[in-house]
Amino acid sequence: MDPETQITLLEAMLDGSRTAALFTDPSQEDHPIIYANHTFEKLTGYTLEETIGHNCRFLQGEETDPKDVKKMRDAIAQESAVTVTLKNYKKDGTPFWNRVHIEPVRAGGRLFFIGTQTDVTVEVNQRKRLEEKEREIERLSLPVLEIDDGIAAISLNGEMSVERYRRLTVKLSEYVQAHHSHSVIIDISGLYWDEDTPVFDLLHIQDVLRLMGCRLLVTGITPKAARDIAAEVATGSSLTAFTSFKQAVETAKSAGAFP
Ligand SMILES: Cc1cc2nc3c(=O)[nH]c(=O)nc-3n(C[C@H](O)[C@H](O)[C@H](O)COP(=O)(O)O)c2cc1C
Repeated sequence: MDPETQITLLEAMLDGSRTAALFTDPSQEDHPIIYANHTFEKLTGYTLEETIGHNCRFLQGEETDPKDVKKMRDAIAQESAVTVTLKNYKKDGTPFWNRVHIEPVRAGGRLFFIGTQTDVTVEVNQRKRLEEKEREIERLSLPVLEIDDGIAAISLNGEMSVERYRRLTVKLSEYVQAHHSHSVIIDISGLYWDEDTPVFDLLHIQDVLRLMGCRLLVTGITPKAARDIAAEVATGSSLTAFTSFKQAVETAKSAGAFP
């Protein structure tokens, strides 16, 4: 096959591709686009005349995250491949989530970059909705119970991630503020952990509650948990722990309002 036919066929393949694709030339001033396929035109609404000779950053706008732009800038400077999903804008101003893949290519002893763009707006929005749902489920799955006047209780189950502890802290603070609780009992009998004991997270919650004039009592501590926790608490702070829930409630009742 002669080179010209080969080039025509390759161009037809790129134009027929469902993926937007372009080449850039880093040896030219401001690293412009030197080729873009028709799918890029269709995706962005910019014609080839408006595209060729310009740096791809014209797709960026107000809500484009500078951290994503930096990722691309650093990868390009290091001549390495990168994939980033960032907010871009079409010619008519419509925002879309663009999964950009950038890769260096060497041809004729020169360096070029190939870029592919995929509109992943539907995927990103679906993921966001799913995350919102998960947060909602999480919110409902951490129910705080009013045990007695001023005494709230919550039972933790399964494995707690940093994010779950963060949400728990927010939830407890909101609850304590709304209900003027003087004591919060956290039952950890349903909690499991491998290496990282929950002690530091509980101490953190204790600090937050203390600032709000509320004490923390921890129950459901098994002998193993007590050993793990004792091994970790070498520092000054300590948790007020009880083996039985009843004991904790009685202590909270007799202690009353936080001093
Ligand atoms: C091949 C290639 C494709 C690119 N495609 C996009 C793109 O689709 N959207 C975008 O926002 N930036 C894209 N960029 C990144 C920008 O052109 C630019 O490198 C980035 O904004 C960082 O540089 P700056 O800080 O000078 O703007 C692409 C870069 C290259 C090399």
